[in-house]
Amino acid sequence: MYLGLDLGTSGVKALLIDAGQKIIGSGHASLDVSRPHPGWSEQNPTDWIRACETAIAELKASHPKELAAVKGIGLSGQMHGATLLDAGDQVLRPCILWNDTRSHAEAAALDADPRFRQLTGNIVFPGFTAPKLAWVKNNEPSVFAKVAKVLLPKDFLRLSLTGEHISEMSDSAGTSWLDVGKRRWSPELLAATSLDERQMPSLVEGTEKAGALRAELAASWGIASGTPVAGGAGDNAASACGMGTVGAGHAFVSLGTSGVLFAANASYLPNPASAVHTFCHALPNTWHQMGVILSATDSLNWLSEISGKKAGELTAELGDVLKAPSGVSFLPYLSGERTPHNDSAIRGSFTGLAHESGRAVLTQAVLEGVAFAFRDSLEALKTAGTILTRVTAIGGGSRSRYWLKAIATALQVPVDIPADGDFGAAFGAARLGLIAAIGADPLAVCTAPRTDATIEPDVPLGGAYADAYQRYRALYPAIKGAMA
Ligand code: XUL
Repeated sequence: MYLGLDLGTSGVKALLIDAGQKIIGSGHASLDVSRPHPGWSEQNPTDWIRACETAIAELKASHPKELAAVKGIGLSGQMHGATLLDAGDQVLRPCILWNDTRSHAEAAALDADPRFRQLTGNIVFPGFTAPKLAWVKNNEPSVFAKVAKVLLPKDFLRLSLTGEHISEMSDSAGTSWLDVGKRRWSPELLAATSLDERQMPSLVEGTEKAGALRAELAASWGIASGTPVAGGAGDNAASACGMGTVGAGHAFVSLGTSGVLFAANASYLPNPASAVHTFCHALPNTWHQMGVILSATDSLNWLSEISGKKAGELTAELGDVLKAPSGVSFLPYLSGERTPHNDSAIRGSFTGLAHESGRAVLTQAVLEGVAFAFRDSLEALKTAGTILTRVTAIGGGSRSRYWLKAIATALQVPVDIPADGDFGAAFGAARLGLIAAIGADPLAVCTAPRTDATIEPDVPLGGAYADAYQRYRALYPAIKGAMA
């Protein structure tokens, strides 16, 4: 048995697979995000540990014998978060998350230093880790002075599981401190934020061993002490391992809290100007590109909250048959946007509202707005040299067939739905746990699931969607002007 632990933004998932990669069981625990000021997004790292314990307890209750047979563990997690520890590994302040945009001024200042784009292959986005440390230095100098280690969320979880400070390439690529082509920390970039390599965890590949389960935890979970923990991956690279998106030409669209259009690459292909992210993959000597939109299911969840209807009820009101865009447009920039705008100040909007615009029309506009944001990412990937001809859908939002049809039509590429199963980040993490534990060939393990169904672009509505996309494109500069 192998265990995958995914520390997401909305919860922790523990997933058990057997040696043949069959899913045996899972446990889950929810997490909340705290937004104490506009643009801020934080979580308390101790809540992650508690949620992990709850998810494991659920798994232990349903599958005690199988859990006891675990031979390897893999970790996955929300990327970019700054978990700051003092010399005694005590947490210094709440973790500043990937969708927190408070450090936009610091990000712009670092991004203006050409070494960052040159060495990391990426824009320094406000959501990345380095500008967060620059913000802490400027605004909480007494905290900054005590920073002995900076860990990404899943690596803080690893510290609690193994006692080790270790990270791996895919997640570390999102810090703005990694030389992404050479797969090592850049002392130069660390120095540019008044840090040095001693404040960073050591680095392994995602497929390598990176610590072993501590005896106390092993005893309480009922697992052998010393069970190896793999390097694992940032949640997007972990999902890619779960989906078999590891070779050039393979791509997925992920409808999670954030939205990601992910393409695997055989080599390092940076193109920061396109606002595409170019990161190390979890497999050695492999990279990937992705367009990232900050609010995907988060946009629908926002509508759900203000309308008092569950997200599933909102999408059910639309039925299964794709409708022509109504003329109401939605920009999903609830916490600003990364690809293609790199604009943390922009905010979302509805336009074209009329007396007859009811709840279903707003839901439809939200699903279309997110689909068009993915189209923007598709165009950005094209600029970065990657042309997608089909994508596989993953993430909670992909349960809505309507949404997938809207995405296929907006992107003008077929969207594959994997055969029943859970091929997300926790599954990818479990695969990395398996690879590290037995030294398996990563490519032989990270295969693609069977496709259950393919959603083709809607041909009759292609023209109406193309027009609506043009309206959508024109809105960003207009709203930006209106907000200035
Ligand atoms: C990727 C990103 C998000 C988080 C979500 O750059 O910020 O997809 O990883 O957990």
